[in-house]
Amino acid sequence: MKILYKILLAMVLFLGCYASNNDVELQNYINRFRFKAVAKPTGMNRDIFNLGKKIFFDNEISGNRNISCAGCHDPKKGTGDGLVLSLGEDGKTIIPRNSPALFNLDHPEMRTLFWDGRVAYDRRGEVYTTPSEVLNGDYPERWDITDELGSALAAQALFPILSHEEMRGAKGTNEIADAKTDEEAWKRVMARLLDKSEYQELFSKAFPNVVELNIGHVGNALAHFQKFEFASYNTPWDKYLRGQIQALSEAEKRGAIVFATSGRCIVCHGQTLLGGNAMANIAAPQVGPGKDIHHNDQGRFEFTGQERHRYVFRAPPLRNVALTAPYFHSGAYQKLEDVVNHYAGGLKSLDDYNSRWLDAFDDIYAGKLFVETNHYRLFRKKEVAHPVMKRNMINLTDTQKKDLVLFLKKSLTDPKFK
Ligand code: HEC
Ligand code: HEC
Repeated sequence: MKILYKILLAMVLFLGCYASNNDVELQNYINRFRFKAVAKPTGMNRDIFNLGKKIFFDNEISGNRNISCAGCHDPKKGTGDGLVLSLGEDGKTIIPRNSPALFNLDHPEMRTLFWDGRVAYDRRGEVYTTPSEVLNGDYPERWDITDELGSALAAQALFPILSHEEMRGAKGTNEIADAKTDEEAWKRVMARLLDKSEYQELFSKAFPNVVELNIGHVGNALAHFQKFEFASYNTPWDKYLRGQIQALSEAEKRGAIVFATSGRCIVCHGQTLLGGNAMANIAAPQVGPGKDIHHNDQGRFEFTGQERHRYVFRAPPLRNVALTAPYFHSGAYQKLEDVVNHYAGGLKSLDDYNSRWLDAFDDIYAGKLFVETNHYRLFRKKEVAHPVMKRNMINLTDTQKKDLVLFLKKSLTDPKFK
């Protein structure tokens, strides 16, 4: 009897301690890594929001009036398109990269946008770095446009419009596609919108007293809409961080601990958004047309030409990541389990990449998607990979993987966007 009692007591103590142990341990990492709940954005202007919303869903801003922002960033598909790689305005051309999610992109921690970070805004110096020279530097040639932007997110919105494949259309098919310069293309987009009385009204409400509207106002409105519409601040993880201990199950808490410890996810997916600013080469498999004649995509290197940027991509923020499959810049992985296995496998994952699941997309991509298997290029990519991959530093047991995936799937999913 006495022994039984002792065993029971030990079990109760053990279980009781176990639960609170996770909380204590997690709290430790929350302090150390300064994990924070996302704050609800403030300062909404209903008129600017409405204008941005109208443009976001409107085909008018594409050259051939056949695609809108929502075409590749569908709120019903986690603000992505659910595809491995996006399809262009003609419905056929394969865009070399996966369509990213749009959650919390106006957050101050988001210093760069695009998979390779080619649009950036320094909030303090109010300086832009973009693919368009006229917007860049301390004294941009088109200060009249940059003056209206106010964020990287607003600047980003000016670029899908310029891409012949994404929105502008092939040369010879419409007046925006035929514009000789970026600036002329933007001007023609504006002219097209302002030709409609509905837009005249929306613009004058959103930007009263503005004499000359420019594409900067479009960027500003699109950013304002995205900032409020796609703000995600109520995931179970956010609730937990605000003190609701019961918002996460014990397995989810263990997953969060793996994220911050043996998973080493924290190395690149840190701060409030669990990503968004670090950049690294994690030896992601290459799928699709890529950026050069070899179907290669060397990430940030394509933009900066610097050796240290070869195969470097931005670590995306992870709120609602369960809703935005497939994963990585090339959409190489179908499931979060695959992503975790990629990290745990180190460089070997690149050699062992299983592309069979892509067969299901054969119809959409009119035949097979190119998958990089060239030994030389794989070797080059592995040589310059981040140490966590190169030295196999992410070792996880099956239980740890399971808990980690649960954390990604459940703790980071905002019910508002399901
Ligand atoms: C044809 C599909 C397509 C259309 C149309 C499109 N996008 Fe995208 N979008 C993408 C792809 C693909 C990327 C990633 C490209 C890259 O990083 O090189 C992207 C990137 C972005 C990003 C950066 C996300 C991040 O995490 O850095 C934002 C913001 C965005 N798009 C908003 C918009 C807006 C606003 C519009 C309409 C003006 C738009 N997109 C139109 C496919 C599209
Ligand atoms: C060395 C930096 C680094 C570490 C460590 C790291 N990541 Fe990443 N993560 C990245 C980069 C860079 C990308 C984008 C890679 C690409 O697209 O080619 C990424 C992409 C992802 C994606 C895909 C997101 C999307 O929308 O496609 C997920 C999910 C992810 N990481 C989760 C994790 C988890 C979980 C861990 C820990 C096991 C982890 N990461 C560790 C840098 C890192």
